Amino acid sequence: MVASDIRERMKLLAAKEIIHLGGGLPDPDIFPYAAVAAASDRIWSNPTLARTALQYSPSEGHGPLRAWIADYMTGIGAPCGVENILITSGSQQGLDFVAKLLLSPVDRAMVEIPSFIGALRAFDAYEPNYVGLAGGDPTGVKFCYAGPDFRNPTGTTMSLAEREDLLDMADASGMAILEDGCYERLRYDGQPIQSLLALACARHGSIEDVPVLYTGTFSKTIAPSLRIGWIAGPAAVIRKLVLIKQASDLATSALNQMLLLDVVQHHLADSTATACAAYRGRRDSMLEALAEHMPAGVRWTRPEGGLYVWVELPKHLDATRLTQRALAEHGVSAIAGAAFYPRGIPAERNTMRLSFSMIPSEPARQGVARLGALASEMLSSPQR
Ligand SMILES: Cc1ncc(COP(=O)(O)O)c(C=O)c1O
Repeated sequence: MVASDIRERMKLLAAKEIIHLGGGLPDPDIFPYAAVAAASDRIWSNPTLARTALQYSPSEGHGPLRAWIADYMTGIGAPCGVENILITSGSQQGLDFVAKLLLSPVDRAMVEIPSFIGALRAFDAYEPNYVGLAGGDPTGVKFCYAGPDFRNPTGTTMSLAEREDLLDMADASGMAILEDGCYERLRYDGQPIQSLLALACARHGSIEDVPVLYTGTFSKTIAPSLRIGWIAGPAAVIRKLVLIKQASDLATSALNQMLLLDVVQHHLADSTATACAAYRGRRDSMLEALAEHMPAGVRWTRPEGGLYVWVELPKHLDATRLTQRALAEHGVSAIAGAAFYPRGIPAERNTMRLSFSMIPSEPARQGVARLGALASEMLSSPQR
């Protein structure tokens, strides 16, 4: 596409009201604005806190926040202390650091297929060869990346038996598990299942002996802009990751860590409940709209939490073409599933990811209706 074509297309898109079913950004209406403002007032009105807030933080993270997270992890079945926690700039940085620690070029990394695109891009920098988790051979694999709850992009959840099987595989092969706990708190129905880290702690008796490194985040329960995530794992590994943190950015912002700590101490339960209530309703209405508007032969997942629904079109329908046409002709953004496949592994061409996080139910229903009409049209046209 030449520059003037792109400009024309941009004008066209700018002129249209786009229905965003593509990105999975949290809804800004649910951010805890008043709680962040009150936390900020408390910091600036206390000279000791204010001085700490504008100073470098330790590379490991702000001590009281690490202690809070250690208690939180203990509360969800992974008993640990501050020495088991490293604060990172979002959990994305944690994914990058673990890959930096464990991967060298041509090492084998096991991933779910499809997988979170941000994790794949972080791992790509260390040039691994990818192996799929389902049926994959763990021999020589450095780590397996898994998002057990309401995965991005499929919205599916790993059963307890699948979690135990993965832990068996790690114990037998010596590979590590990198558990992405990003969506764990966003459960709308069904029973919570213990994290891989918690199950491993129960098996091995202590976090110091587990093969699991867990990345967590407050991006989906509080606000992503504070960029506060963490890695939990054996203290010996955390110490190595601290050196990587030092070399990378010295430390995460002390101010953001202190704001976040104040907000989670008082409001994590409320914020999480607000997010779950909003997203549960949107998920329900997206699932209804799919049932109402998708032509026969289209299937989709029914997530118990998180932000995503994965749609599988009939085999011969190209989702990349469909999502391009949906945006250009019908003002609806969705992401073709091919984007979520690791390098070197052929992608299914007939899948797409929809997110219900960003826009209210009614426009989302309209978006799904337009996608359904387009899918019907493409199925009945000879060129598709
Ligand atoms: C599965 C998954 N993991 C990690 C992240 C990174 O989140 P953050 O860096 O904001 O903690 C995201 C972001 O959307 C995600 O979907």
